[in-house]
Amino acid sequence: MRRKLAAGNWKMNMTPTQTKEFLKEIAPLVKGAESEVLFFVPAIDIPAAVEAAAGTGIGIGAENFYFEDKGAFTGEISLEMIKDAGVSYVLIGHSERRTIFSENDEWINKKLLKAIECKMKPMLCCGESLEIREKGETLSWIEAQIRSAFNGVSADQAAATVIAYEPIWAIGTGKVATTDQAQEVCGMIRKLIAEIYDADTADKIRILYGGSVNPENAAELFAQPDIDGGLVGGASLKTSFEKIVKA
Ligand code: 13P
Repeated sequence: MRRKLAAGNWKMNMTPTQTKEFLKEIAPLVKGAESEVLFFVPAIDIPAAVEAAAGTGIGIGAENFYFEDKGAFTGEISLEMIKDAGVSYVLIGHSERRTIFSENDEWINKKLLKAIECKMKPMLCCGESLEIREKGETLSWIEAQIRSAFNGVSADQAAATVIAYEPIWAIGTGKVATTDQAQEVCGMIRKLIAEIYDADTADKIRILYGGSVNPENAAELFAQPDIDGGLVGGASLKTSFEKIVKA
């Protein structure tokens, strides 16, 4: 049985002070939740988040990192730094990193391989633009993203990776994918994992939906057979995220 996962992605929001206050408020609300609860936070917030989340069961992840070990990479942080700060999850391939910061499939594959090598828990994002969807090319687009990201990853390593399907047109727009659209792509991703690896790996891997998830639509999305939870942006900045965790 796959354990459900409710993950927040704060993006460029929350100061270290706000991080401490928010986690103190939400921790009792999600205590004992059936699902795993996790927040991806900005690098500067990591120490405050790790301290505030200690003993609460809430996991902390890093929104970004660079795949080299160390050196002349001004402004970047390494996995060793992140790990030393007490973080276990890392987010890879978010559409904002791909589009605004020009991260390509090759980089994303390098990041996934590096995260696995460093024994971090990676969450890999994929998703299509509105243009791709309207052209009817969603499934082949997602397939190409997944095949490229998992190049060189073994079945066991893949099973321990989380995939987040986030249609770009649904991110921060309030325009959520229908449950049928979300299930169709998440189901296709699981079939693809079975094809690349085997049925057991496909059965183990967790696949989340992200894009305008909120307390009202979460339960229906998470009830779909191939959706194992959500990756939540805006709605993870409020204590009502509790309702998404419980959904
Ligand atoms: P929203 O939930 O704000 O649409 O953002 C989704 C997202 O990009 C999470 O990574």
